[in-house]
Amino acid sequence: RRTAILISGRGSNMAALLAAAAAPAFPAEIVLVFANRTDAAGLDTARAAGIEAAALSHRAYPGREDFDRAVDAELRARNVDLVCLAGFMRVVSPWFCERWLGRMISIHPALLPSFKGLDTHARALDAGVKIHGASVHFVVPELDAGPIIAQAAVPVLEDDTPDSLAARVLRQEHVIYPRALQLVASGRVRLEAGRTVSEARTS
Ligand code: GRF
Repeated sequence: RRTAILISGRGSNMAALLAAAAAPAFPAEIVLVFANRTDAAGLDTARAAGIEAAALSHRAYPGREDFDRAVDAELRARNVDLVCLAGFMRVVSPWFCERWLGRMISIHPALLPSFKGLDTHARALDAGVKIHGASVHFVVPELDAGPIIAQAAVPVLEDDTPDSLAARVLRQEHVIYPRALQLVASGRVRLEAGRTVSEARTS
């Protein structure tokens, strides 16, 4: 399935998805990397991998939905069927969510439903949790609240800082995001009535 990855910065999750999608049998073909900032470092990573990269500055649009409609036009122009938000630091509008419901997934650096929102690693340390991690989920209008597709857990260590914890979580993000995209692109997992539904294992 023709897939676009939306980024805002470094794009390490995007790079992990590109690497996984390079396998011939992978069920998703990355046809576009799109950023809401023209200086997103991940755009160069995509171009170096031979993937089309485009950017629109969200500041050039009066409202959130105006920007989202411009993004939607970019996606439709390339017959994109699946969207991966990967470090895309924008809250997508309800209009965009409805339009891509069930065909848009995202990664969050925490074990949802814990620690929705920003600064998840510092908040996890402040909360004194012993287990932290990452979640891939379907995107719904409510922030970080979509049905979960995949998760990975990591231990929180005594001497952890937000950066050391973030690095441990990020390594797992790069494992679960490609797995989640494979599950959704292959149809093994889908969004149905607000829940993730998995096809019974046939093999
Ligand atoms: C990652 O922790 C991701 O979970 C969050 O943004 C961070 C940067 O991701 N959404 P990336 O390196 O830009 O993929």
